[in-house]
Amino acid sequence: MPKKIRLGILGGGGDSLIGVLHRVASHINDNYQITGAVFNPNYEDNVAFAKEIDIPLNRVYKDFDTLVEEEMKLPEDERIQVCSVLTPNFLHFPMAKKLLDNGFHVICEKPMTTTLEEAKILLEAQQKSGAVFALTHTYTGYPMVRQMREMIKAGALGKIHKVDARYYQGWINEIIHDKDKRNSVWRLDPKKAGISSCMGDIGVHAFNMVEYTTGLKVKSLLCDFNYLYDDNQMDVDGTVLIRMGDNVKGVIRGSQVATGEENGLAIRIYGEKGAFVWEQENPNFLYKLSDTEPVQIYKPGHAYNTELSLDGTKLPPGHPEGIFDSMANIYLGAARAIRGEKYNDGEFPTIIDGVRGMDFIISTVESNKNGNTWVNLED
Ligand SMILES: NC(=O)c1ccc[n+]([C@@H]2O[C@H](COP(=O)([O-])OP(=O)(O)OC[C@H]3O[C@@H](n4cnc5c(N)ncnc54)[C@H](O)[C@@H]3O)[C@@H](O)[C@H]2O)c1
Repeated sequence: MPKKIRLGILGGGGDSLIGVLHRVASHINDNYQITGAVFNPNYEDNVAFAKEIDIPLNRVYKDFDTLVEEEMKLPEDERIQVCSVLTPNFLHFPMAKKLLDNGFHVICEKPMTTTLEEAKILLEAQQKSGAVFALTHTYTGYPMVRQMREMIKAGALGKIHKVDARYYQGWINEIIHDKDKRNSVWRLDPKKAGISSCMGDIGVHAFNMVEYTTGLKVKSLLCDFNYLYDDNQMDVDGTVLIRMGDNVKGVIRGSQVATGEENGLAIRIYGEKGAFVWEQENPNFLYKLSDTEPVQIYKPGHAYNTELSLDGTKLPPGHPEGIFDSMANIYLGAARAIRGEKYNDGEFPTIIDGVRGMDFIISTVESNKNGNTWVNLED
């Protein structure tokens, strides 16, 4: 058994949404040991949380700069090897950049940065350092999403015609209708979230899902946002028409005010020979539609699944795979890359997905601002 990879955590404190998902996922395949952290900007909270989850306090630092400085003083075989960046969006770029410049590997939450320029600088830094960079578009780790990708690559749908991806949530309803509340959350503050709320937070997952599963690139888009209130600077709902070249068209729909919706990411991909339908809230069911045959249902863990899909399944069929397993699969792929082992390029989203995602977000904002015009994404 190889030694565990020394993992640092930035953000993801006890008060956070996503911290627990990363902590559990990093343990699932026994590849990582949480060795150091800055869980919170407040040192007392940071230490209190580290005690709660039993992380050695000598490597719980007062802030990110101190973590880098102190870790760099340690011999390489003791130093943190990879850091997970789980802070609000505006901190992803400065943290990831400094980590790459100092030779650390990076696992980073989406959206990767707050601007396309930052994303390109990060790409340059990553190429220079040669470090592994995994972007946690969590949902690409599900066995049935991997199955879709591999079957589409093998031609199961023939030529693709249309893609329809949606990501609907309703949680901002509680906040958006109250003026004080809507000025108090970081996801609606452009200084902390970047220029978009709905597309930056969830639309970008749907965009990544479209490119991950189809293997095609979005070439241009036209977007229409809803802000709901004049004093709200951030989109909370949007519809995006997409063109993927060669007569492949589609739509990406995102909403944080879709009343009653929970975490409704779903994708439908239609091709000349059939279609796939997959929904995040029932992730173990992949439906294949046809004009001439009954609906087929694919499920995880069966021998008929592809190697990439089976690699993401740990138990025999009938033991449901969930969001923790999906994130764990991304951590597993990153672990293989960090150790220099062989891995499939579908095992984790990369820094290139991060640059594409930022191009998508910025282009939706530009299109909406220009009065809903078509905007080209970069190649
Ligand atoms: N992959 C996904 O599906 C998914 C889901 C939810 C959130 N996210 C992303 O994860 C990131 C965090 O989101 P969240 O919902 O957990 O946010 P959150 O506000 O719930 O938690 C943020 C955490 O970062 C900490 N933090 C803030 N400033 C810090 C600093 N300077 N140093 C160290 N820690 C600091 C906070 O104390 C808190 O613990 C965001 O970028 C978000 O887009 C991704």
